[in-house]
Amino acid sequence: MRIKKLLGAFAVVLAITAGATGCGSRAAGSPASADNTGALVGISMPTQTSERWIADGKNVSESLTKLGYKTDLQYANDDIPTQVSQIENMLTKGAKALIIAAIDGTTLTDVLAKAKEQNVKVIAYDRLINGSPNVDYYTTFDNYTVGVQQATSLLTGLGLLDANGKKVDGKGPFNVELFAGSPDDNNANFFWTGAMDTLKPFLDAGTLKVPSGQTKFEQAAILRWQAPVAQKRMEDILTAAYSSGTKLNGVLSPYDGLSIGIISALTSTGGYAKGSLPIVTGQDAEKGSVKSITAGEQYSTIFKDTRQLGAQAVKMVDAVLKGQQPEVNDTKTYNNKVKVVPAYLLKSVIITKDNYKKELIDSGYYTAADVK
Ligand code: BGC
Repeated sequence: MRIKKLLGAFAVVLAITAGATGCGSRAAGSPASADNTGALVGISMPTQTSERWIADGKNVSESLTKLGYKTDLQYANDDIPTQVSQIENMLTKGAKALIIAAIDGTTLTDVLAKAKEQNVKVIAYDRLINGSPNVDYYTTFDNYTVGVQQATSLLTGLGLLDANGKKVDGKGPFNVELFAGSPDDNNANFFWTGAMDTLKPFLDAGTLKVPSGQTKFEQAAILRWQAPVAQKRMEDILTAAYSSGTKLNGVLSPYDGLSIGIISALTSTGGYAKGSLPIVTGQDAEKGSVKSITAGEQYSTIFKDTRQLGAQAVKMVDAVLKGQQPEVNDTKTYNNKVKVVPAYLLKSVIITKDNYKKELIDSGYYTAADVK
């Protein structure tokens, strides 16, 4: 009787173990061994309030479709829970890979753990996803260099550097104010660091002054890259530090949307005429800002060719779904606090009214009518 009982228990244990192992090996089956022809790829973008993300989503989705993949493209309205639930939905629908431009790089750990359980490959798109081991690859622009370019164009606009980037002596001092991007976007820190490293010698020498005294990232950062918040901060600074007639000569702005808010504050509260505005920088070469540049209002922007970025992300997804190693060109820079994510970095270009035609129109990124 006792032996029978023991044997019975043994059989149960065996059955459970076999079941568990069976499940386990199925779950661990690599997507590389599966046939991913026509697989579903989830594309999660942060917002439609900025043209660049609309172009990014469209480029990525169209290119994947051309390769025979199915796509699910979602925009999360800059709302973190929306982005998380959209990604969960993609997993439920059976996506085999995800391309994600995170709103807040630290909020996707749980949903990416689920992705990992389902053997779904994850590509971080433009913005690094922080704090998760389940990010396979990253494609972006060289974000530190973007910051260097923003500051360089500010210095060129002020006449402190010549067209070849050489220091021009005997100019200044100039008054500038500094803006940074969203503190939860990993890129914002890279842009700021690149810009501040470039401005530092001029700030140290007193050639550049910041009358508001706000020179720290936390003071300059604009949560979620919101134009009205940047406008309000610019208005407050103008009132507090410039009302006695001090002239503002330049503004470091890390994104065209913010530049629009800043220029509104300059013309309203600041009383600057549109034709004699301080030098204002930007990023993304959005149509409205390119128009502003050609009209002599905003001074510069940074062109990040979203066609190239989209193509790179698609190449990465196609490779991982075929069980191949995607090409990367950086394995050091992007530590997400859990691991260094292998990345492919692209080059960006400073745009002013002198080269916008060559870079944006001759390259087919925009038509002349788009920016008229
Ligand atoms: C992107 C920038 C963009 C900003 C605001 C950043 O993560 O790299 O190109 O200007 O987000 O959308």
